[in-house]
Amino acid sequence: MQKKIFPFSAKKVSYYFDADFSLLSKLVDKHQAVLITDENVFAAHTKKFNGWKTIRISAGENTKKQATVDEIISQLIVLQADRKSVIIGVGGGVVTDIAGFVASIYMRGVKFGFVPTSVLAMVDASIGGKNGIDVGVYKNMVGTIRQPEFLVYDVSFLKTLPEGEWINGFAEIIKHASIKDEKLFAELEKNKLAHYQKNAEAMSKLIRTNAAIKSEIVRKDEFEQGERKLLNFGHTVGHAIENVYGLSHGKAISIGMVAACILSEQFTNFKQTARVIGLLTKYGLPTLAEFNAKKAFEVLKMDKKKNQHSLNYVLLNRIGEGVVKAIPMDQLEKLIHSIVRAR
Ligand SMILES: NC(=O)c1ccc[n+]([C@@H]2O[C@H](COP(=O)([O-])OP(=O)(O)OC[C@H]3O[C@@H](n4cnc5c(N)ncnc54)[C@H](O)[C@@H]3O)[C@@H](O)[C@H]2O)c1
Repeated sequence: MQKKIFPFSAKKVSYYFDADFSLLSKLVDKHQAVLITDENVFAAHTKKFNGWKTIRISAGENTKKQATVDEIISQLIVLQADRKSVIIGVGGGVVTDIAGFVASIYMRGVKFGFVPTSVLAMVDASIGGKNGIDVGVYKNMVGTIRQPEFLVYDVSFLKTLPEGEWINGFAEIIKHASIKDEKLFAELEKNKLAHYQKNAEAMSKLIRTNAAIKSEIVRKDEFEQGERKLLNFGHTVGHAIENVYGLSHGKAISIGMVAACILSEQFTNFKQTARVIGLLTKYGLPTLAEFNAKKAFEVLKMDKKKNQHSLNYVLLNRIGEGVVKAIPMDQLEKLIHSIVRAR
């Protein structure tokens, strides 16, 4: 096991890499802990939850809504959770987002930690303190920024992760490589998904690298004034099409990353779109979609990153170097329509 501490403004967060789930009982008092997980993770790892107070929610993005928050809060009251309780989200990004959000508002905020169980949650969703829920088709419309106490990484959870969810997680890994780490991009080009699925050591190393990339970006800009915006690479179009079309997060942002590369060609003279498309394809991700540009643009206009008449868009100067540029809305609308027409 490797312990690493990332200092954020309000809290030092302990990351336990290459750990075992059983570590949890050393980090928290079982009587004060309430675990939140989803039905799939619970079914695949039932034994691990023995002896822990556990709240189970349905699986999937549809669960990430206010009604589930209300349900969890009712159960916390029944379990007599109080200000000293520690909430632990054990699951994918849906569980960690919702558990972190509930912990931030229950009794005006209780401590929380995460055991991420999907690739996406390990490299992305559980890191950085953003916790929230969707409102209708609008992703992460309501939420808080508050850091967990700890993250426990037990890669053995990944043995039961469905193939499609592995692919989803690799979309965020490719995102990190694209905006920050050309060396990682080249490593991913050399390997393929099966290499990481079969080789726990390689996967652990990949998770540590990606957790560090995200944590460093967040640490420099916890409240999203600048650098953190880079993490939205692929997310502007991605979010606009994700809920409207019921696409998985990874597939949606993969298409979004390609759209951002094409925009980059116009705004930053980016010339490596083919390489990005090549890598996404290698890891089983889609790079184009038939989507209704008008409908997507309506959702996009509501995007939280919108700043009056322009939208802060994450582009690439080159692979490994992301940049945020304000693009006027009218120009963006035209570009999105032209991308759709060109496909
Ligand atoms: N807070 C953030 O900074 C942040 C960043 C990125 C993504 N997110 C959010 O994360 C969510 C997506 O996360 P996700 O892809 O992990 O989705 P998810 O939580 O829905 O998990 C995907 C599926 O895999 C299942 N699963 C998870 N771990 C498993 C395991 N070990 N074995 C078997 N099945 C398992 C889940 O039950 C679910 O069906 C989105 O809501 C997104 O908005 C948040």
